[in-house]
Amino acid sequence: MSIKTWASVDHYIVEALFEADAALDAVLAANHDQGLPPIDVSPAQGKLLSLLARMQGAKTVLEIGTLGGYSTIWMARALPVDGKVVTLELDPHHASVARSNFERAGMSDRVELRVGPALQSLAALGAENAGPFDFIFIDADKPNNPHYLSWAMRLSRPGTVIVCDNVIRDGAVVNEDGHDANVEGARAAFSFIGSDKRLEGTAIQTVGAKGYDGFAIAIVN
Ligand code: SAH
Ligand code: DHB
Ligand code: MG
Repeated sequence: MSIKTWASVDHYIVEALFEADAALDAVLAANHDQGLPPIDVSPAQGKLLSLLARMQGAKTVLEIGTLGGYSTIWMARALPVDGKVVTLELDPHHASVARSNFERAGMSDRVELRVGPALQSLAALGAENAGPFDFIFIDADKPNNPHYLSWAMRLSRPGTVIVCDNVIRDGAVVNEDGHDANVEGARAAFSFIGSDKRLEGTAIQTVGAKGYDGFAIAIVN
């Protein structure tokens, strides 16, 4: 089985189950035009995040790693009109593209974008007594995963769902050779979730248009 098959099946899933979505297509086109790397979640993954947030009844979402806001918009759409996504992005250019994408998608009222290193934004949220968030999506610089998980715990409540992206990395997560910082970040997410008694978690391996990777998914006890 190849990435070509995975991409075709992803296409099939979208054709069979999704409404045509000009707003999200426009986000991906704008990201491309503005030179952003195509590392957003896939449409099928974006809808999974949206469904998980809905299943959980989330009103508040925290996202670490916005890029152009593709995943942000999927999650924002899962919320009631008075719901809120707080999303954190380091790169000012990514953030400005994301802002215009939120505007075009009609989601600006539901999204608060904070620009800067996520660890600083998280400390600011902590100082403001923000949260607890109902749903937290971690998808930024992978070496900081343990710090982001640690902040996620501080900004959560029992029942909060935490999803961490890119924890399989083509299966490299089980290859002990080499010292890819991103792979070590993936392993760090497993060891955090596995060792923190307040968390119950699993991971799901994913294939599709974006290759072979996966999500760690946990709930706060
Ligand atoms: N969640 C997005 C993809 C995020 S890509 C989606 O699926 O659509 C990862 C993003 O994390 C990039 O935009 C990158 O600039 C940002 N990032 C990297 N290091 C960061 C940091 N220290 N703080 C905040 N954001 C960071
Ligand atoms: C990368 C980052 C991501 O968040 C992702 O989903 C895919 C790739 C990366 O940095 O290569
Ligand atoms: Mg990712």
